[in-house]
Amino acid sequence: MHKKLKKFKLSYMLFSLTVAISMLFSPLSYNSKTLAADSYPQDASVNNKVNFNTDVIYQIVIDRFSDGDTSNNPKGGLYDSTKTNLKKYFGGDWQGIINKINDGYLSDMGITAIWVSQPVENIYSVFPDGSTSYHGYWARDFKKTNPAFGSMKDFKNMVNAAHAKNIKVVIDFAPNHTSPADRDNSSYAENGRLYDNGNLIGGYTNDTKKLFHHNGGTDFSSIEDGIYRNLYDLADLDHQNSIVDSYMKDAIKVWLDTGIDGIRMDAVKHMPQGWQKSFMDTVYGYKPVFTFGEWFLGQGESDPKNSYFANNSGMSLLDFRYAQKVRQVLRDGNDNMYGLDSVISSTANDYEHVNDQVTFIDNHDMDRFQKSGANTKNVDEALVLTLTSRGVPAIYYGTEQYMTGNGDPNNRAMMSGFNKTTNAYKIIQKLAPLRKTNPAIAYGTTQQRWINNDVYIYERKFGNNVALVAINKNQLSSYNISNAITALPQGNYKDVLGGLVSGNNISVDSKGTVSTFTLAPGACAVWSYVATSNSPMIGNVGNPMAEPGEIVTIDGRGFGATKGSVLFGNKTASIVSWSDRQVKVKVPNVSAGKINVSLKTSSGIQSNIFENYDVLTGKQVSVRFVVNNANTQLGENVYLVGDVNELGSWDTSKALGAMYNQVEYKYPTWYFDVSVPAGKTINFKFIKKNGSKVTWESGNNHVYTTPTNSTDSVIVDWQN
Ligand code: NOJ
Ligand code: NOJ
Ligand code: CA
Ligand code: CA
Repeated sequence: MHKKLKKFKLSYMLFSLTVAISMLFSPLSYNSKTLAADSYPQDASVNNKVNFNTDVIYQIVIDRFSDGDTSNNPKGGLYDSTKTNLKKYFGGDWQGIINKINDGYLSDMGITAIWVSQPVENIYSVFPDGSTSYHGYWARDFKKTNPAFGSMKDFKNMVNAAHAKNIKVVIDFAPNHTSPADRDNSSYAENGRLYDNGNLIGGYTNDTKKLFHHNGGTDFSSIEDGIYRNLYDLADLDHQNSIVDSYMKDAIKVWLDTGIDGIRMDAVKHMPQGWQKSFMDTVYGYKPVFTFGEWFLGQGESDPKNSYFANNSGMSLLDFRYAQKVRQVLRDGNDNMYGLDSVISSTANDYEHVNDQVTFIDNHDMDRFQKSGANTKNVDEALVLTLTSRGVPAIYYGTEQYMTGNGDPNNRAMMSGFNKTTNAYKIIQKLAPLRKTNPAIAYGTTQQRWINNDVYIYERKFGNNVALVAINKNQLSSYNISNAITALPQGNYKDVLGGLVSGNNISVDSKGTVSTFTLAPGACAVWSYVATSNSPMIGNVGNPMAEPGEIVTIDGRGFGATKGSVLFGNKTASIVSWSDRQVKVKVPNVSAGKINVSLKTSSGIQSNIFENYDVLTGKQVSVRFVVNNANTQLGENVYLVGDVNELGSWDTSKALGAMYNQVEYKYPTWYFDVSVPAGKTINFKFIKKNGSKVTWESGNNHVYTTPTNSTDSVIVDWQN
């Protein structure tokens, strides 16, 4: 054995003398190959809209990407043909994106999804300071497209062009608000007016239909304050208003009908979670697509309400904790690899499905990662990290061109060029395909294998599939790495990046120890092992929340070619389709709640257990629960609990709240907007909680029948 190992090492050394021969030295040649789309059609992006784990998203500010049709460019003060006044439209459009899809710029990079800024019609006003709606967040008609980007037909052409290249399309959607408004001045901008496919519904002043909140601007002091007051000066929609509720649920269907594959929900922290859950139920009941929300967190910030949202709304989130930490460690230099490792493990703890959260290193609301004048190594390292970490990576347009710019709008300049030979472009090109070929990257766990202040070596593992990644952020010093343990099987491994970021090859002995090696200054390396046969492993179940009877998709490995069985909780699901890597099932009629999903192959081999799958009681509607005269002691808050899963099934630890009492109603009245099953008679009570101390409302249960559609509110007195 010893001898054999020595011989192995010798041949390794000899072979590595020449590049040409080194191509042969891996006994497992697929360990280093960059594979294109393989023979499993279900892994192709566009055939699976409820699972983005194998994808790499590219975020595009439409106006700033590529102008493919000058005839649609806005006129007058809206537009700047010199592309220097960053507050104005620059002309980017659907045709520009189509051109870049068709010329291979995106697919050659390995991009398998684009996220475009909000596509809906925006206001046409030009503000005194020159500001315009080029960013798309100042909507006026959510059922039409912004003519500056082209027609609805052009949009559909773009979706089709993307799909033809195996690229998914995600749209930004911002139902929190329309556009800037001034309650004292109806002629300010467009007065926040909302249109329904061209027909005026109403505006912010003289709001007779009560479409909007009129509670002033938020000071961000609490979640409630941020939900029910205006975000900046943006006219804040009231989602409990039945017109707004059905308008938004209809509007998203207009876009789902175009064939989009995903939604990025703007400002989810600023809308009631109950309404958003009912919105997601609508999406999943109509044309399910992967949806991720934006809940902004600053550097060092973490918030249990953020993970509660990701775990209970039916939506994933943009992973701001991850992004902010990567920026601290690899951009700003005010934390080290221990900080990064600790965020990786705490987020894995806090998010029930950490692989579904969307990772990024910069976006249109942050300074660009590349600092002006700095070398480009930090961007390279951050890209390697993001592309091989848990979570779905989203790359902001231009990061691959090392674009710079601090703050909004400097971080949203016109795309600087489409150079396919930058190091960053080539890094993405090498690593993006790994998300499809090595399921350890898409679905795996993360384990730290070697660490100091500058070096982070982590391993992703899914069944027997393994990826080991090493990053040295110190650009001046190399490190000697010895005694690193890995799950990679014995053998030699080439750096998947082929030395692009100064990485090296490694060998692993029979005990799983990596041979001592030198990690060069600023080096990143990725070593990958794809198992040839797999025992059954579930990687993802999408959509993440469903009503009984809805069809969901189970992705993974080793399910076998012939039909086995699937359990949701203790009930058997009926199988819609079965293949080795993908099974579709109908969610059985289990009692609602978070349940385990598991699978058995036809030969009876049991899979891992996929935990916390969210089954609903049935179709959801948003209801405002209001309780008057609920006086509390200091430290006490009022919660809602009832006899359906959506109300915690009488479990006080799952009661809804703390309820609010500052904005829409004031103490001692408490209110909360909750997603509940439609058309159902429910029993509920309010409770007072102080830490673990619970005080029940006395008297009989409140009894209430929820609406079959639309929204409602139920108002009762606290029973002393
Ligand atoms: C968050 C978006 O990312 C940001 O750009 C926008 O201004 C606000 N939400 C309001 O829509
Ligand atoms: C300007 C920002 O560019 C945009 O993202 C945001 O929606 C508005 N400010 C808020 O009024
Ligand atoms: Ca144009
Ligand atoms: Ca709001």
